[in-house]
Amino acid sequence: MSVASAEAASRAGESLGRIIRAYDDPVVRSYCAVRFMILRQRFLFEIGQYLPSSGQVLDIGCGFGLFALYFATRNPALQIRGFDLNARRIEMARQAAARLDVQNVRFQVGDAAAFRFDESIAAAYMLDLIHHIPQASVEPLIATIASNLRPGGRLLVKDIEPTGGGKLAFTWALDKLMDWKAPLRYWTPTEVSRLLQSFGFEIYQHRMIDYLPYPHILYVSTLARDTSGHDRSYWQRA
Ligand SMILES: C[S@@+](CC[C@H](N)C(=O)[O-])C[C@H]1O[C@@H](n2cnc3c(N)ncnc32)[C@H](O)[C@@H]1O
Repeated sequence: MSVASAEAASRAGESLGRIIRAYDDPVVRSYCAVRFMILRQRFLFEIGQYLPSSGQVLDIGCGFGLFALYFATRNPALQIRGFDLNARRIEMARQAAARLDVQNVRFQVGDAAAFRFDESIAAAYMLDLIHHIPQASVEPLIATIASNLRPGGRLLVKDIEPTGGGKLAFTWALDKLMDWKAPLRYWTPTEVSRLLQSFGFEIYQHRMIDYLPYPHILYVSTLARDTSGHDRSYWQRA
């Protein structure tokens, strides 16, 4: 590792530590530490490299706001808007942002299954969201995001690949443990890619592989053209 990249890694590590310490509740702090262990520094670099250098960015299903706070802290030229269904999580995200004095992030309660937004955005991301929301809600959500993105804008979807085997069983058990009543459906890469392509996105599938038992997959989607001609049949034929 070069000196410059070691320094960058050390600064990012300090950011993660400060964010975790900004939450009062020890249970939430432990959850955040585990979440940063699962989506750790290397993955955050991998995801962050696809974000724009400035502009408004949506974090849909932001939870406690960990990653919104991380990306906002790392790049003050981004304006991050985090949305989550869970009002308690949003309140904790706001408190953490205030405590850290992060000015370029805002958090709001919002349901991804009925998401309405009408402002120009440079990018949006969803980290482990789409397997938690009803299947029928995903298409309108992507439609809303696509209609607010400029051509060349990015939508990053980090999710779980239903590969079968032990990794998937482990992830399923953990998801059920967190909330056994919530919808749970792991989309195949073909389904996700076809849906995104039908809105004019060009897709690059980035598998984030490591020793932990999670079949992570990141869909790096770049809006290639005018989205007015969304071809529904394209992905429904899949
Ligand atoms: C696995 S957590 C991921 C949280 C965050 N993205 C992260 O990576 O730490 C899934 C999140 O999706 C949120 N969620 C579930 N259904 C939602 C919906 N319909 N609209 C918005 N958020 C939702 C949950 O409240 C939870 O915070």
